[in-house]
Amino acid sequence: MQNAIQVLKNAVEPLLKWYGENHRELPWRGTRDPYKIWVSEIMLQQTRVEAVKGYYAAFLEKFPTAEALANASEEEVLKAWEGLGYYSRARNLHRAAKLIAEKGFPRDFEGVRSLPGVGDYTAGAICSIAYDLPCPAVDGNVLRVLTRLTADGRNIDEMSTRIAFSQLLREVYPKEAGEFCQSLMELGAIMCVPNGEPMCPLCPWQNMCLAHLAGEEEKFPVRSEKKARKIERIFVYVLKKEGKFALRKREKRGLLAGLWEFPNTSEKERANYGQVLSEKTAKHIFTHVEWHMMGYLIEAEEFFPQFLWVTPEEMKQSYALPSAFKAFKEWVK
Ligand code: ADE
Repeated sequence: MQNAIQVLKNAVEPLLKWYGENHRELPWRGTRDPYKIWVSEIMLQQTRVEAVKGYYAAFLEKFPTAEALANASEEEVLKAWEGLGYYSRARNLHRAAKLIAEKGFPRDFEGVRSLPGVGDYTAGAICSIAYDLPCPAVDGNVLRVLTRLTADGRNIDEMSTRIAFSQLLREVYPKEAGEFCQSLMELGAIMCVPNGEPMCPLCPWQNMCLAHLAGEEEKFPVRSEKKARKIERIFVYVLKKEGKFALRKREKRGLLAGLWEFPNTSEKERANYGQVLSEKTAKHIFTHVEWHMMGYLIEAEEFFPQFLWVTPEEMKQSYALPSAFKAFKEWVK
């Protein structure tokens, strides 16, 4: 690893300079408030910057402090999260806010890492950005950038590779820890991109990146083969009666746990609730599953008692319906 350390050491200054001149202005950059940085990092887990931008300010306006978030109901928090996906993040955020409201925001890596919903990456990012602590934040983007820089052919899906690069980063962390952490993310986001052409001719590392110098950018990173997603066929029923619509709560465990949904069944238990007024198909892609949906707008024969019947206004105000059902929401009016 001696060589890799030297390569990385030489790469720090040019990266910081490049970041200073080229970084995007994002809504969470420019604050040192750990609460606000924490919210941004949780939103940015598995979610693109562009998608988060639209939620971040609204969420902080609603819940400007950990105390405000702690005092909200879970339903309110889920509603503010509606459409962002991976809802366990919102539940963990809410749980963690109660701890923070009581004890203050943790001041060190161990404390931050112990919050519900915060893993090594997120704890590293928060501690770097909010406190300038030399805590690496290593995700797939950072690993892509670093394996290219050092022409490292280890599989980035292996935990040992992640640990090795975290250790390497610890040895070169500059005092501007927050800027360094974000500069690695930024290089991965706008320069050293995953698919298609990395923008090597504009990169601050073009004369030191071992993959680029060897003309082998496309060889890195090395990854495990992806498993194909499972496809599930789902029949979705938008039941309407006297201006009200049927909702039910999903199981407490599994995909979209505990969220509201339109009644639905798998192929085998096709239900009959009334006259079909309209139908259409929709698809939603989760991390490991694809839902191929057939949706029906139905004039319900009765207020089936197993469901909650709400007006469109109530649905809009108070019930968080996952994006998977978005295509069928336009029937609710
Ligand atoms: N992805 C994760 N954290 C990020 C941040 N702070 N800025 C941009 N992209 C990110």
